[in-house]
Amino acid sequence: MIGDPIDRSLSPVMHNSTLREMGLGDEFVYEKIRVERDELEAFVQGLRDGDYHGANVTIPHKVEVMRYMDRLTDAVEKIGAVNTIYKENGMLVGDNTDHIGFIRSLKDEGVDVEDRHVTVIGAGGAARAIIYALLEGGAESILIANRTRENAVRIMERFDHLETQISVGGLDEVHGDILVNTTPLGMAGELENRSPIPVDRITPNVVAVDIVYDPPKTRFLKAAQKRGCKTVSGIGMLIYQGAVALEKWTGKKVPVDTMKEAVIRKMKDNIALIGFMGTGKSTVGVSLADSLGRDFIEVDELIEEKADKTIEKIFREDGEEHFRTLESEIIQDVCQKEDTVISCGGGVVLDRRNSNSLKKNAYVVLLTASTEEILRRLSEDSSRPLLRCENREERIKELLDDRSELYDDCAHITIDTSDRGIDSIVDEIIRRKEGWS
Ligand code: S3P
Repeated sequence: MIGDPIDRSLSPVMHNSTLREMGLGDEFVYEKIRVERDELEAFVQGLRDGDYHGANVTIPHKVEVMRYMDRLTDAVEKIGAVNTIYKENGMLVGDNTDHIGFIRSLKDEGVDVEDRHVTVIGAGGAARAIIYALLEGGAESILIANRTRENAVRIMERFDHLETQISVGGLDEVHGDILVNTTPLGMAGELENRSPIPVDRITPNVVAVDIVYDPPKTRFLKAAQKRGCKTVSGIGMLIYQGAVALEKWTGKKVPVDTMKEAVIRKMKDNIALIGFMGTGKSTVGVSLADSLGRDFIEVDELIEEKADKTIEKIFREDGEEHFRTLESEIIQDVCQKEDTVISCGGGVVLDRRNSNSLKKNAYVVLLTASTEEILRRLSEDSSRPLLRCENREERIKELLDDRSELYDDCAHITIDTSDRGIDSIVDEIIRRKEGWS
């Protein structure tokens, strides 16, 4: 992905997770490269000659890059912007997948634009892709609502519109069946509290669509939801435009659900620590949360609170099965969290549903240690119900045997904590989490 700036993009994590899931993690890697305006031509030449399969293009190069392409798709000719470059017989094709992303994300939510009256708010590059999508999808009419009328008129004149009626208007003239925000208003940061239109223009029964995806519920969408409207966030468009691009680069069908999960996981930004008793989940977790300024949650503590007794007592009085039920309930709750470090009990992976939820909602770090080290760390601790036995070493080996595959299946990364200090483990988690994207 080339652009300037590119720091906040979710695309790397989305593509790289999906490539790994597709078994293509060794063959392909998706990188962000900051390319300044005066470096663009040389970069494109490198793309043509080098090992690249293609690129995504973002601000400020989407228009400029068109002149360096060997071929432009019809969509690009109309939209006037490239977001995806792929190779065809060694030639560079400039394509745009934003419009397909938009239509597919609406379809996913059961919204069809055919014969509908749509207002497009904003008249920038994104609006052009959306208008193209709406014309392709057979919208009945399009109103381009913008602060400056001239820009809206310029876009209107760009598109021939035999079957769809296109008009322009001010932001307070918004109406129709579907309202689409294509401006950055509502985006996380300085613009977060802004709505692109006066919220009283949102009437019940319209579908409100935002192409902003961070936050997923913008001020505009929240106001629409309050009025009982159906809402569609920008996450679907992000995912589908990416899926179409990835299909072009790899020539393979892309698992869209994997892409969606990667995006949601990245946006939630939780970290879950799993692993056997005595591998340091709690100690590392506290320190990790502290370093990152995150909340820390200990699943075992929440279980004790819920049952109003110690884990030992739950095992003794109610049995392990009951403990596992409570554990699963708590895992479902903590997976709703954001920006949290979650330390899980050693047996959390015994239930596949726990593993699946954790993997979807958190970056999962498996901590391991040698049996000797585990024995040593737990030598003073007699509170573990599962280790009440004659031969602790045997018991630990048995449990590890049963569980090691389950741990591996649940983890995004694994770190051996034997002979290591906490700070170095915490640093490694932070570093690898960054690199993982
Ligand atoms: C268990 C590990 C414990 C606790 C319970 C069961 C296990 O958590 O959840 O005793 O099955 O391995 P820690 O691993 O945090 O000690």
